[in-house]
Amino acid sequence: MILITGGAGFIGGNFVLDWLADSGAEGIVNLDKLTYAGNLATLESLKDDSRHIFVHGDIGDKELVAKLLAKHQPRAIVNFAAESHVDRSIHGPAEFITTNIVGTFNLLECAREYWNGLDESAKKAFRFHHVSTDEVYGSLSATDPAFTEANSYEPNSPYSASKAASDHLVRAWFHTYGFPVVTTNCSNNYGPYHFPEKLIPLVILNALNGKPLPIYGDGQQIRDWLYVGDHCSAIREVLAKGALGETYNIGGWNEKANIDVVKTICTILDELMPRADGKAYVEQITYVKDRPGHDRRYAIDASKVERELGWRPAETFDTGIRKTVRWYLDNPAWIEGVVSGSYRDWLSKQYN
Ligand code: NAD
Ligand code: DAU
Repeated sequence: MILITGGAGFIGGNFVLDWLADSGAEGIVNLDKLTYAGNLATLESLKDDSRHIFVHGDIGDKELVAKLLAKHQPRAIVNFAAESHVDRSIHGPAEFITTNIVGTFNLLECAREYWNGLDESAKKAFRFHHVSTDEVYGSLSATDPAFTEANSYEPNSPYSASKAASDHLVRAWFHTYGFPVVTTNCSNNYGPYHFPEKLIPLVILNALNGKPLPIYGDGQQIRDWLYVGDHCSAIREVLAKGALGETYNIGGWNEKANIDVVKTICTILDELMPRADGKAYVEQITYVKDRPGHDRRYAIDASKVERELGWRPAETFDTGIRKTVRWYLDNPAWIEGVVSGSYRDWLSKQYN
């Protein structure tokens, strides 16, 4: 057994599906609070799979986490659970502090107590894998080298500050208690089951619905895009072979300006689902007010994980984005389920 937190979200959900696609894989206990970002429809195909045990609950719930660990005796924990949306953290940072910092603290403490009670061989084999972000390193100029694991932490948003704090806790639990942790800091993910308030799914769905494609500021901010399946394979590698107490940067070697990402999506849609009026989707692009404190550029140097663990992404941006657009076109039922009341409330708060 392994215990996953946040496994009904975008990356956690993909991780659970990929993991259990292997018929010989160990079972998963999946602890998720089902916030607006958690969606059990993503895990629909597992409803009759006894290897997947879903538990609705909070990583901050000490009693529940302790009970789950005692009952299922996992050999590892992978912590995906977080509040993950930068814009939401600007409107309301409190939940980010509660889940990302206090929640991670609770998980670490419960896991440490459980680990202390294991026999020597189980203790040695145990891993706590913390899933984090490149945003903890702050913002790069156009000419700065990409982030390595040696970059200092300079988080700029309530979201990235809360993730940075959680990374520090994980690091301290290793140094102080010898608790067996690994941390991965990953760049922007995209792919199936992505909640449509983040740039790529938002643009695909707005384009298809004839709505504006909102570009913050001048659209020249750069992100380093990684297909979600590649992030999941990197986590599996690090979980299996990563050195204790180490951090690994995970990225796609795919730096793109936001405006170019949006134009690429428009071009693919022009081909796969042309507009009824024959016009191009780029006509829907609209420049809107910039994000406060918007980081200009992120770029990941993922050479350590390649050198030490042999991991490299399988998808290029061109192959991954095409798969992603195709997936959204082919899965209207999932999208319909996600476009709930709370999501509509968010859109009017953010863009009006
Ligand atoms: P997401 O917002 O799609 O999913 C988060 C999941 O965590 C949801 O299912 C939610 O219900 C659950 N959750 C939230 N609070 C919880 C709590 N207190 N207890 C239990 N479950 C809770 O996020 P995501 O994009 O899948 O990101 C997953 C992790 O990866 C996060 O830690 C994020 O910081 C990190 N990350 C994300 C990206 C990205 O591009 N999306 C990149 C790098 C790192
Ligand atoms: O870098 C990793 C991070 O990537 C993760 O840690 C976060 O959890 C994840 O949400 C993501 O953060 P970003 O803020 O980079 O992602 P988002 O999709 O919100 O925005 C991507 C870029 O697009 C960013 O520069 C802001 C811009 N943007 C976003 C939206 C939603 C727009 O221009 N218009 C928009 O409407």
